[in-house]
Amino acid sequence: MDTYPKTVRLRATTALLRPLAHGDAEEVLVFARSLPAHDLMFLRRDITKPETVAHWLDEIDQGLALVVIAEIDGRMAGYGMLSLNDLDWSRHLAELRVLVHPDFRETGLGRAMIREVFALAVNRGVEKVIARMTLDQTSARSLFQELGFRPEALHENEVKDRAGKLHDVLRMAVDVQALLARRDSYGLG
Ligand SMILES: CC(C)(COP(=O)(O)OP(=O)(O)OC[C@H]1O[C@@H](n2cnc3c(N)ncnc32)[C@H](O)[C@@H]1OP(=O)(O)O)[C@@H](O)C(=O)NCCC(=O)NCCS
Repeated sequence: MDTYPKTVRLRATTALLRPLAHGDAEEVLVFARSLPAHDLMFLRRDITKPETVAHWLDEIDQGLALVVIAEIDGRMAGYGMLSLNDLDWSRHLAELRVLVHPDFRETGLGRAMIREVFALAVNRGVEKVIARMTLDQTSARSLFQELGFRPEALHENEVKDRAGKLHDVLRMAVDVQALLARRDSYGLG
């Protein structure tokens, strides 16, 4: 089961992973407010606002979301989130999202966070995991693809950025049981 805090080894450093807790709101705001405009532009919700962090904590309390934050040298470096579904017909489905601060990219943290949150989904019995990204998020696409996600749909003009420009969104998905079976058959555990 999930044991936190947990240290993960990255290429040249280590990160401490732990679940987001009520006392972390200020740390998340400092993290969010230091993100470049381009990163903030594509967030589903504006995490520079205290209401958004409060909303996350509400969702966590209701069992609708799991949020893991990563710290490197005591500074928040990124987060991974699993949004569970409260719709009856999609109760088998969860969405995985990840964001790493540009100061900590290309360190292996993105890959570690995606795998960490994916493991949380598996532990909770989620049957299908999806991830959504704009087409320019090529690094995200390759990381999800590496884990077994495949493009499933392209939603035209799904996102309007903060400047009002429309962007298409690629939805990637993976069937958890099929993925685990494939890994087993390759002896990957
Ligand atoms: C996606 C994201 C989490 C990756 O974080 P990261 O810490 O840089 O990830 P890692 O260091 O583990 O891996 C990055 C990988 O992408 C690869 N990559 C980087 N730019 C790339 C590009 N333009 N095209 C293809 N692959 C690319 C790197 O080579 C690296 O792979 P490698 O380790 O095999 O060399 C980070 O870029 C991010 O937060 N992006 C903005 C938010 C986002 O796109 N979220 C995903 C949607 S849910």
